[in-house]
This record gives sequence, C-alpha cells and structure tokens, in this order.
Amino acid sequence: MLIKNRKSWEISENEATPEHVYMDRRSFMGGVAAAGAAFSIGGSAVAQTIEVSDPSLSLYPAERNAAFTLDRPLTDEDVAATYNNFYEFGSHKRISRAAQALPLRPWQVRIDGMVEEERTVDIDTLMAAMPLEERLYRHRCVEAWAMAVPWTGFTMAALVNYARPLSSATYVRMETFLDPDVARGQRAPGYPFPYIEGLTMAEATNDLAFLATGIYGHPAPAQHGAPLRLAVPWKYGFKSIKSIVKFTFTDERPLTFWEDVGPREYGFWANVNPEVPHRRWSQAEERMIGSGEMRPTQLFNGYAEQVADLYDDITGEDLWR
Ligand code: MTE
Repeated sequence: MLIKNRKSWEISENEATPEHVYMDRRSFMGGVAAAGAAFSIGGSAVAQTIEVSDPSLSLYPAERNAAFTLDRPLTDEDVAATYNNFYEFGSHKRISRAAQALPLRPWQVRIDGMVEEERTVDIDTLMAAMPLEERLYRHRCVEAWAMAVPWTGFTMAALVNYARPLSSATYVRMETFLDPDVARGQRAPGYPFPYIEGLTMAEATNDLAFLATGIYGHPAPAQHGAPLRLAVPWKYGFKSIKSIVKFTFTDERPLTFWEDVGPREYGFWANVNPEVPHRRWSQAEERMIGSGEMRPTQLFNGYAEQVADLYDDITGEDLWR
C-alpha cells in the first residue's frame, strides 16, 4: 500500500499472505500507522520494517534506469531481506530482526578530508539533492552466494560532485556507524569496527558505483544497510559497505575492514574473477539465494564492459582478492 505504482515483480500483500494473517496485520498496521511507528511490508514472515514516518517515502518508487538489465530472475524480496551479512549485528545470516534496533533517523553524513569544504549533511537533505533512480544489479558475495535486486539510489559520481574533492584526492574512504549499544556485533573481539571500505576515485566515479537508499521500490530496511549503502556489483559483496556515516577524500589508500581482519584472504580490490579461487573455496560458480540455482560466475560479475579498463594501468597488485 505504500508503493504507489506496482511493478511487475510486486504482488499485493493479500496475494502473498493467508487472509487471516493479512486481515490481522491490516488492523495492526492501522493502529501503528496512526502512531507513526514501524510496520512490516512484504511477505508474512519478513523481519523487515520501514518507518511510516520515513521522510523519504514520497521519493519512491523512483524511475527505473532501463540501461541496467539482468540475465537472471530477481531474488524474492523476502529472501533478500532475511539472508544478510551485517557483522555489526552478528556473524551469521539471520540478523534481520536484530538490525531493526538501528535508528535510521536522524542520520547525518559527514564529508571530509581533501574537499573544498568539509561538511555534515542530513540524509534527507542529501537525498533531495540527488537524482534518484532504480537499477537492477547482480550481487556476488565472496562466499559464493548471489542475488539480483532492484536498488534505488544515486550514483557515487553524483555524491563526488556534491562533495567537491580536491584534485589531489585519489581515494574515497567510507565508514559505517559505530554504536555497540545497538549493534551488539560491534562488541565481538577481533573485528576492527567501525567497518571501513574504500574505492579509488576512478572507481567511485564509474557510472556503476551506486549509493543505494532503497530496495524493491521503497526505502531499504535496516538489514540492507539503510539509510545509505554502497553497491559496487563488479566487486565481491564485502566492498558494498552498509549504513554509511562518513566519506573521507584522501590520497592514502584506506585499510579496509576485511583486509584488516584477514589480509591473506581479503584485499582492497576484490574484483570478481571466477578463475581466481579464494584461499578456502572455488569462485567458479555461485548459488542464487532462494532458488538455490547454481550459475557460472562471470569476470567482474558480468560487468567487464563497464569497468575492466579501470585496471588497465594498475600493475603489481592482486586485483582479485
Ligand atoms: N557493511 C557493513 N557495514 N557490515 C557488514 O558486515 N557485509 C558485506 C556488505 N556490507 C557488511 C557490509 C557483505 S560480506 C555483503 S555480501 C553485503 O554487505 C551483503 O548485503 P545484503 O545483506 O544487503 O545482501
């Protein structure tokens, strides 16, 4: 009911849910909507909530950019929303309920380092200034599972324009929130929270690099990295940092979270390559979550045409880990 224009991949809630559950939920939602509380959307068992009072609701659904197509069916929304990696909430896939503890508003985004002017911007002010669109992207986790989802958001190039970096900046470093009181996983020993990721400026301004605010035509639920997460589909999924609070423009290559945890297994570049196995498993194939279908993995996750030339001049680096 929040989604104004149904898309082909949406079915209404009463088609998806047994009627008695649907009717109970409708009366429940009638109550909470009036109070401005959170309610769930999608299928009956999904631990996925968005705020009725989310100030960005009216921006959805954004127009789909037809240039981004898929070679496989979209992953079922409920499956994508309940099979997540978000170590801040636990080192397993069933973190979706725990992630609801993350307050998504107010949310400030800091832009600092080598920029014309450092500043802090409210997420809704930032979203209002950005051209929102929807893109269908593949996602390939380093663990060899994969999904295909419709992200809503804006290009990282638009964010870079907005940030006005100095020409001396060669990297952008991104940082996730740090709050061990709501994200209990951040208390786990051995993990150097906050989660850090980075891209070269050339990668960040490539048209494929996307900052997602929504998924399946509505604001993203917390477990997908709301209210702002990266989607760099030619790289292993761990590069796609969630719930970003800071962008720092720098001339130093950032030490990323997983590089710090396990430098023999995870590197800065992490471009998808089926021919280069992970130290502990093959990367030749991937398993689609939900259907379980096995598919051959493609170089740069199928996006070689858009990104391969980013690496033409890079020598002496392990681009595939
Ligand atoms: N970002 C943060 N802050 N913390 C994380 O644990 N996990 C990464 C990435 N971004 C992670 C993160 C990994 S390994 C993957 S595969 C994707 O998020 C998973 O995104 P999804 O749960 O939306 O499918």
